[in-house]
Amino acid sequence: MPWAVLLGLLAALLLLLLLTRRRTRRPGEPPLDVGIIPWLGHALEFGKDAASFLTRMKEKHGDIFTVLVGGRYVTVLLDPHSYDTVVWEPRSKLDFHAYAVFLMERIFDVQLPHYNPSDEKARMKPTLLHRDLQALTEAMSTNLRTVLLGDVTEAGDGWHKMGLLDFSYSFLFRAGYLTQYGVETVPRTHQSQAQDRAHSADVFRTFRQLDLLLPKLARGSLSVEVTTIINLEYNLCNRGSFSFQGNAGPATFWLLLFLLKHPKAMSAVREELERTLWKAEPPVSEMAILPQKVLDSMPMLDSVLSESLRLTAAPFITREVVVDMAMPMADGREFSLRRGDRLLLFPFLSPQKDPEIYTDPEEFKYDRFLNPDGTEKKDFYKDGKRLKNYNMPWGAGHNLCLGKSYAINSIKQFVGLVLLHFDLELTNPEMKIPEFDLSRYGFGLMQPEHDVPIRYRIRP
Ligand code: HEM
Repeated sequence: MPWAVLLGLLAALLLLLLLTRRRTRRPGEPPLDVGIIPWLGHALEFGKDAASFLTRMKEKHGDIFTVLVGGRYVTVLLDPHSYDTVVWEPRSKLDFHAYAVFLMERIFDVQLPHYNPSDEKARMKPTLLHRDLQALTEAMSTNLRTVLLGDVTEAGDGWHKMGLLDFSYSFLFRAGYLTQYGVETVPRTHQSQAQDRAHSADVFRTFRQLDLLLPKLARGSLSVEVTTIINLEYNLCNRGSFSFQGNAGPATFWLLLFLLKHPKAMSAVREELERTLWKAEPPVSEMAILPQKVLDSMPMLDSVLSESLRLTAAPFITREVVVDMAMPMADGREFSLRRGDRLLLFPFLSPQKDPEIYTDPEEFKYDRFLNPDGTEKKDFYKDGKRLKNYNMPWGAGHNLCLGKSYAINSIKQFVGLVLLHFDLELTNPEMKIPEFDLSRYGFGLMQPEHDVPIRYRIRP
């Protein structure tokens, strides 16, 4: 027994030594902040509210620093003039996919031993960017009509009540799911459409359960049992849906909420939509799917979308440092990065919420991305220098979002459908815009702390 106690003490001592053996900053490296808790470092503060934590670190150390987070050293870069160097580095130095694979394994228990990101991207590109984009957009629009108009018609005349997040998320997800994985029969019948609606609603319910647990799963703070159940459900949901569909719904929620809270913005968008349809050659009926040339001729709606995303898109742009390397900053400084560390850009803080770039950065200004002559505004400055990356909801460089055009088309089709065919109102117009669910920083679009009740009906 005394031996067992002694061994136990020795093991505890060894573990403590191991945990407290801390790294020190080498010459040329960014400021290092390991926090006070061995191994964990700043993990708790980071997980609780990453934006506040990184703002505090920026005030302490400047726009580049390294922090310890749950055993990993993460170098955080917050100077938007220097982002370009990172996003255009080759994979042999800064790797995007290593981190994505790590997250897939942690969240979904999916092993990807033969995964080749370049092959995967080459397969997706023709569909998402070129050849099939028009067909994809048309299928999405038809499916949006099936789920949205179909559900409402089935539920009967008059006003319907729902949360705005649920409304935006469920209809976009369900239509996206049918677009990606196919409908019951073509040509569609009444019965097959009803089946499509019921099936896609089931899938969305399962997806949403998983989505709500995502922050905990990604941080590895959920029990094995729960994770196993989720994995089963996720397989039912089908893997690809998650990363593809998780952002468009919340993005549309914020866009519609800002429009509902800013009547001037709402009438500017409505007016543009009606004018564009009427002016199109040949004129487009309100009942038709919006053609690409109409979707591309709405600078006001583009500005509203960019402004909504500026305020609510908060992904972590994360790269694995594959080799020891030097990182040049735009102002001429140079820092050493160590192999095995992670590099993190957080454009949400800067450029997106930077008061030097955007006046009143917390405010929604619907025409912020428009020039006085109505064209898209692209000139934004920091330290007197024009910025290349002034708004980064879609990332940038080698790993710029492949689904950007498809997502923008889908959001515009949905907003067009709602504004042309529905009356949509906040149940309580005085209700404040909800705060963010702070645990979701890093996953893309932020979600609200709580939903916002609305009522809607098909225009009589
Ligand atoms: C509002 C909706 C969306 C937002 C805000 C968004 C945002 C992003 C961001 C920020 C990245 C870059 C991550 C990084 O560099 O670390 C990214 C990458 C990516 N996105 Fe999206 N996304 C959206 C919708 C979609 C959709 C609908 C699809 C596909 C149907 C898609 C497919 C992809 C793919 C494949 C990549 C990885 C590109 C690569 O490996 O180089 N996204 N997205």
